[in-house]
Amino acid sequence: VPHDDLRLVYEPIAIRNTEVSNRIAVSAHETRFAAGSTITADLIAYHLERAKGGVGLIVLEAATVHPSSMLSNNPYCLSAFDDAIIEGYRRLMAAVRPYGTKIFQQLWHGGHHYGPTGGGPPRGASAVPSPVLGTPAVPIATAEIPEFVAAFADAARRCIEGGLDGIEIAAAHSYLIHQFLSPMTNTRTDEYGGPLENRTRFLVEILAAVREAVGDEPALGVRVSAGTTPGTIGEDELALVSRQLADAGLIDFLNVSHGDYFAPHLAIAGMEREAGYQLPSSGRVAPSSLGLPRLVAGRFRTLEKAEGALLSGAADLVCMARAHIAAPDLVRKTREGRADQVRPCIGCNQGCIGVIAGWDLRTGCAVNPVMGHEATLSEALIGQTDRPRRVVVVGGGPAGLEAARIAAIRGHSVLLCDAAPTLGGRLAVARNAPYLGEIYAVADWCEREVRRLGAEVRTSTAMDASAALAEEPDVVIVATGASPRPSGVLAAAPGTPVEGIDQAHVLSSVELFTEGDRVRGKRAVVCDDIGHYETVAVVEELLQRGLDVTVVTRFPSFAPTADRTVRTIPARARFAQSGRRFEVRPGTLLSRIGDGSCLVFSVEGAETIDADTVVMVTHRDATNGLTAGLRAVGAEVHVVGDARSPRDLQTAMREGHLAGRAIA
Ligand SMILES: Cc1cc2nc3c(=O)[nH]c(=O)nc-3n(C[C@H](O)[C@H](O)[C@H](O)COP(=O)(O)OP(=O)(O)OC[C@H]3O[C@@H](n4cnc5c(N)ncnc54)[C@H](O)[C@@H]3O)c2cc1C
Ligand SMILES: Cc1cc2nc3c(=O)[nH]c(=O)nc-3n(C[C@H](O)[C@H](O)[C@H](O)COP(=O)(O)O)c2cc1C
Ligand code: SF4
Repeated sequence: VPHDDLRLVYEPIAIRNTEVSNRIAVSAHETRFAAGSTITADLIAYHLERAKGGVGLIVLEAATVHPSSMLSNNPYCLSAFDDAIIEGYRRLMAAVRPYGTKIFQQLWHGGHHYGPTGGGPPRGASAVPSPVLGTPAVPIATAEIPEFVAAFADAARRCIEGGLDGIEIAAAHSYLIHQFLSPMTNTRTDEYGGPLENRTRFLVEILAAVREAVGDEPALGVRVSAGTTPGTIGEDELALVSRQLADAGLIDFLNVSHGDYFAPHLAIAGMEREAGYQLPSSGRVAPSSLGLPRLVAGRFRTLEKAEGALLSGAADLVCMARAHIAAPDLVRKTREGRADQVRPCIGCNQGCIGVIAGWDLRTGCAVNPVMGHEATLSEALIGQTDRPRRVVVVGGGPAGLEAARIAAIRGHSVLLCDAAPTLGGRLAVARNAPYLGEIYAVADWCEREVRRLGAEVRTSTAMDASAALAEEPDVVIVATGASPRPSGVLAAAPGTPVEGIDQAHVLSSVELFTEGDRVRGKRAVVCDDIGHYETVAVVEELLQRGLDVTVVTRFPSFAPTADRTVRTIPARARFAQSGRRFEVRPGTLLSRIGDGSCLVFSVEGAETIDADTVVMVTHRDATNGLTAGLRAVGAEVHVVGDARSPRDLQTAMREGHLAGRAIA
C-alpha cells in the first residue's frame, strides 16, 4: 500500500474498554533491562521512547508470575510475583501516559524451559525434557494447580494496581500454558491431560481467575502460537481453543504468533522471510469470524506492509517488535511523511534475540546503538553544538557513516570520504551473499541521512594522513575498516600459521564475493576461525556455485555465534536441499594447504581433505595506517569500528555513533 494511501493503520480500535489510538503494537520482547520486580529507569526510558514514537500499544516483556521459573534463568527477568513491582508500574505509567500509548503486561511461566534462579529443576505439565535445559520437568501436581492459577491472578492484580491497561497471558511459544495445551508435552492422566478440553482447562481457569482478580475494566487476552513439530499442538487444535475462549467471553483479544522452542526461527525469522510470513498460520488460528481484535506479527518493518495486512482482513492490529527496537519513532516519522528516514531493522537477529540466546547480557540492536541507553543517549537529547568544527571522516562503512550522521546532526561541517566507488564498506560485499542482501539496507539508510543532513560525500577518494590534513580538519574520524589477514595465523595456534595460503585457489571471504572467478573445481574447504555470520554466507555461496563444502573449525559446532540468531536453522535446511555435500569438522585445525588438498589436525590425528578451493574466514587485520601520521601533528582523532579492532556491524555502528557525539 503506498504511503499516501495509509488509512487503516491510523484508525483507533477498542480492546474491551481500552481505546488504542492506532493499529500498531510493540509485542512483548525480553530486554534484560529489568531487575526482578524493579522496573528500572532504563526500562522506563526504553518504553517511553517508543510511546513518544507514536505506537498505539506496547505489551511489556514476559513477566514471570512464579519464582519457579525465571526467563532465561537470570535475575534481569521481569518478576510480577512480588508487590514491589506495583510502584515501578506506576512510575512507568506516569511517564508514558501523556503520550497516549496503552500498556499491557504479558504474564508468563516458562514451564520446563526455565527453572528458578540458583538452580532447582523446572516445573512443567509433565516430566518431558526441554530443548533449553534438557532436564525433565517436575510435573505440577493436580493439587498444586490452584497455586499456579492464583499466581497468574495475583500478578494480574499487581499490573492493574500499577495502572496498566491490560493483561496478555503467554500461552504461546511452548511455555508452561502451551505445554499444557500440547499433547507432546502434556502426558497427564488427570483432568488437565488427555482430550483438548482437558488440556485447555489450565488456561481457562487462569483466564477466569485473572478476570476475577482485575475486575471488569481491563483488557484481557492471550498470546498463542501453533507449533510445527510432530505431536505438538498445531493450527487445527489451536483454532478450536481460540474459538472456545472467544465464545466463552474469556478474552478481549487474541495475539497470534507462530512457532516455539522446537522451531524458533518461525517465531523470530531472520532476513530470509518476508513481512507477513506468519499470516497463513495466524489466519488459520484466528479467523475474522472470531469477532475480537486479532494481533499478528512477523517481520513487519513498514506501515505500508502493516496496512496491507489490515486491508486483507487478516489482522486488526499489527505487531512490529524488532522494527521498533531498530526505530522507536517509526509511526511518528511515517505519519509525518518521513518514512524514508526510518532506520530499518535488517532482520539480523544479532543484538536482540542473538544476545538472549547466547549471553547473559542486555539486549541491543545491530543498527540502533541507542537501544537500551535511551535515558542518556536518546537522539532527541542531541543538541546543536555551539562550536561547529570541520570533521573529516575517512571510510564510509557503517562506522564512518554513523559517525558522519551524528556529527552532522550536531551541526558540524562533515566531509565523508571513501576509497570505494560506493559507500557501505564491507556491507557492500556482504550484500552479495545469498540471503544477506538486506544487511545493506542500514548503509543505504545511513547514506540517505548523511546526505540529507548536508554532509559532503566523496566516493572513489582514498585518503592518507596528508590528504586528510589537507582538508584542514579539526577532527578526523578513522573508519577505514579491516583487510583479510594474509598471514594464515589462526586463534587456536597463533605460533604455527597455516602454510600455503599464498596460492590462487585460496581466497578470503571478501575475495569470494569480489573475485569469485578464482573459485575452481567441485570441492571446497572453508577454514572458519570466527564462528559466525561470514561462514554461513561463504558456505551458502559455495554450495550455490555447485561445490561440496567441508568446514574446518576450531569451534565445537557450525557457526555457533550465528546459531544463536536462529540464522543457521533455515540456512542448514537450504544447505541440505542444495544437492551438494556439506560437512563440518568441529575441533579441527587447518595446518597446510596443498594444490588440491588440505592437511588438518584434530584430537583424532592428522587427515587430508580434498580441496580444489579453500576459503579462509579468519580474523581480519585493522587498516588504520593513517592514524599515526594524524596523531603526530596533534589532530583530534577517533578510530572506530573494524579499523579499531575487526569485529562486526553492531560494534561498528556503536563506535561510530559514540565518536560522532564525542567530538569536542
Ligand atoms: C561476507 C561478509 C559477511 C558479513 N556478514 C556480517 C553479518 O551478517 N553481521 C555483521 O555484524 N557483520 C558482518 N560482516 C562484517 C561487517 O561487514 C563489518 O564488521 C563492518 O562492515 C565493519 O564496518 P566498518 O565501518 O568498521 O568497516 P568497513 O565496513 O570495512 O568500511 C571501511 C571503509 O573504509 C574505506 N577505506 C579504507 N581505507 C580508506 C582510505 N585510506 N581512504 C578512504 N576510504 C578508505 C573502505 O573502502 C570501506 O568502505 C560481514 C563481512 C563480510 C565480508
Ligand atoms: C529479543 C526478543 C525477545 C522476545 N521476547 C518475547 C517475549 O517475552 N514474549 C513473547 O511473546 N514474544 C517475544 N518475542 C517475539 C516478539 O514478540 C515477536 O513476536 C517476534 O519478534 C516477531 O515479530 P517482529 O518481526 O515484529 O519482531 C521476542 C522477540 C525478540 C526479538
Ligand atoms: S538486532 Fe537486527 S534483527 Fe534485532 S532489531 Fe536490530 S536490526 Fe532488527
